[in-house]
Amino acid sequence: MIKNTEFQRDLISALSQAQKHISPKYFYDAKGSALFDQICDLPEYYPTRTELSILEKHAPEIAAHIGSNAELIELGAGSLTKVRYLLREMKSPISFLPMDISGEHLNAAVAELKREYPALDVQPIVADYTKDWLLPKLSPQAKRRIAFFPGSTIGNFSPVEAQAFFANCVQHLPSGALLLGVDLLKEPRVIHQAYNDAQGVTAAFNLNLLTRANDEANADFKLDQFSHWAFYNAPLKRIEMHLVSLKKQEITIADQSFVMDEGETLHTENSHKFSIDGIQQLAASQGLQAGPVWTDAQKWFGLLWFNIPA
Ligand code: AVI
Repeated sequence: MIKNTEFQRDLISALSQAQKHISPKYFYDAKGSALFDQICDLPEYYPTRTELSILEKHAPEIAAHIGSNAELIELGAGSLTKVRYLLREMKSPISFLPMDISGEHLNAAVAELKREYPALDVQPIVADYTKDWLLPKLSPQAKRRIAFFPGSTIGNFSPVEAQAFFANCVQHLPSGALLLGVDLLKEPRVIHQAYNDAQGVTAAFNLNLLTRANDEANADFKLDQFSHWAFYNAPLKRIEMHLVSLKKQEITIADQSFVMDEGETLHTENSHKFSIDGIQQLAASQGLQAGPVWTDAQKWFGLLWFNIPA
């Protein structure tokens, strides 16, 4: 049964290309989101704990930049762990708008947050923020809108998509600001290990895309005939994740069939790593003005502030 025609269309187009490539947004069904939460707790996956340590240390200063009576939006909100550091320190926040593509996951996280902050106006938005932001009008009590985009999810965009994201910020947050989490360039070995964990959680996360294709897009991938492959592409400053076909095989999606050769890959994700300068320049190309940068002692991860013109 086809439950997700967009996914099916994108899969057919992915398998029709010479280098097969599908958007990483399809990782995040309920199971994929749960696996991603597990990744965030892995010893090898440094980005989450490093970003949390920065938030823990600098949340009061960041909240001072946000100012009083602000409306906070979180893009790709997930389990709402990080934003709690900001909410705790913010002065009279007007509302919190968490946006995520996975409705089930978001609604469960929101229910819990509401129990903790009964007075806060929380408006979850189930949307694909790479397309439309679907924001309600700024509440009349709110001074301005601040977007929080943690986790270095910006790294999963191509440079062109990252520019489109910054352009969206300029369009939707006039006189507002963006607080952006960015995974910084570092020793490749450290990055490599983060995507090749010993417990195989990242492999399960990658392979879950095929399970989802079988469940939702009428595909017939045989899971034991693919393996997880992640490596650091130094010239392009990114981790690449692929699913490698372990033998020559035929895959059927709806009524179309495709052949994958032994060793041929379906490219599932890029995770770009940035210099502070590099990401600030990319943002500046769309009109965002760089502000303070908070980082950890090893400079492995950065939280970057950008002001958005009126
Ligand atoms: C969500 N995103 C920033 C993660 C990353 O590190 O690129 C997704 C991920 N893929 C494998 N592990 C984590």
